[in-house]
Amino acid sequence: MLRDMEKEWLDGVIAKVTKKMDIVSERSRNKIPYTTINGMHDDKSVDNPSADVADGINWWTNGFWGGMLWLMFHETGNEKYKEIAQISEVKLDRSFDEFYGLHHDVGFMWLPTSVANYKLTGNQESRKRALHAANLLAGRFNLAGGFIRAWNDLEEGDTRGWAIIDCMLNIPLLYWASEETGDPRFKQIAMRHADTSMSAFVRPDGSVNHIVEFDPFNGGVIRTHGGQGYGEGSSWTRGQTWALYGFMMSYIHTGKDEYLQTAKRVAHYFMANIPENGIIPVDFRQPEEPGLMDDTAAAIAACGLIEIAKAIGGYESRSFLTAALKLLRTLDESRIDWSPDTDHFLLYGTGAYHSKTHHHAIIYGDYYFMEALFKLKGNDLFLW
Ligand code: GLY
Repeated sequence: MLRDMEKEWLDGVIAKVTKKMDIVSERSRNKIPYTTINGMHDDKSVDNPSADVADGINWWTNGFWGGMLWLMFHETGNEKYKEIAQISEVKLDRSFDEFYGLHHDVGFMWLPTSVANYKLTGNQESRKRALHAANLLAGRFNLAGGFIRAWNDLEEGDTRGWAIIDCMLNIPLLYWASEETGDPRFKQIAMRHADTSMSAFVRPDGSVNHIVEFDPFNGGVIRTHGGQGYGEGSSWTRGQTWALYGFMMSYIHTGKDEYLQTAKRVAHYFMANIPENGIIPVDFRQPEEPGLMDDTAAAIAACGLIEIAKAIGGYESRSFLTAALKLLRTLDESRIDWSPDTDHFLLYGTGAYHSKTHHHAIIYGDYYFMEALFKLKGNDLFLW
């Protein structure tokens, strides 16, 4: 799939990742990081009684550190990565115990940890954890609207009818559960959610809404929300990538052509909006100033674009691959801190357009950057 010079570049970047992960993994062996503070990983597994119930051990990104370690274990065979990944997986059990903080992001939490562990080592405890998480996700399905409920708020804002595009990358946990158990219910729920997302989230031009609010009783669409993007009707870039990559994974798991066509439509929209310099804004419809950026979107988009290229093959695949390479090369060349003295890779992540802080390390940016590299190498774990 890659030309010789592209292969040479890829080998060089993977060597840099491997060198840095060798050091960072040891330094952060007992942590579950989200971001960095003065270059050092923070730790979401440390108890913080004043934190919101969905924060701390229940924080939705808590699977990505484990995922980075499993990618490294798969790449190098070095047992230390397995050991450190398992430390974070066991810590996540506290989240099952607490239960009230859990949300639809159980896919993001247990696919890169327990499903990865089970796939690579056959660990039966990990299988049990992943099936438990899949049942929790399936239990969030709203029959009237055909969607999976995202969050749990009721008193301070009623989210009983809220679904978000990000869930397209949680539902692979349901596909996995059906493939693993032979029980079609999980896949049926995943496909109903994907079908609803195609009609309610994806706009005719290939851009997507972040949040759709349904009536939780009769299932009708009430309105859309801008969510983590600039505003209602805007185009939050990470949301575009959850759709791009998510529909592609739904296609891979089901073979349903409409999912592939939807992934391609979102991808064409995304590619047409990549700026000349390859740096992705937080929202494709944000004002020119202050020019907020989100490199995590670049990394996730690259993963989805590579999967599209692999699935369609031939001449048509090259444009998807070229776009993915442009995004990844931009990250490598000017957006990553390669020093072994800091814990982060990508420097310019943004959680949400209207957050207080922007342009900082975010663990899923690092995870998807690594995943994209291993996809290009043909050494992916296929976790989604
Ligand atoms: N899933 C939430 C986000 O992408 O920030």
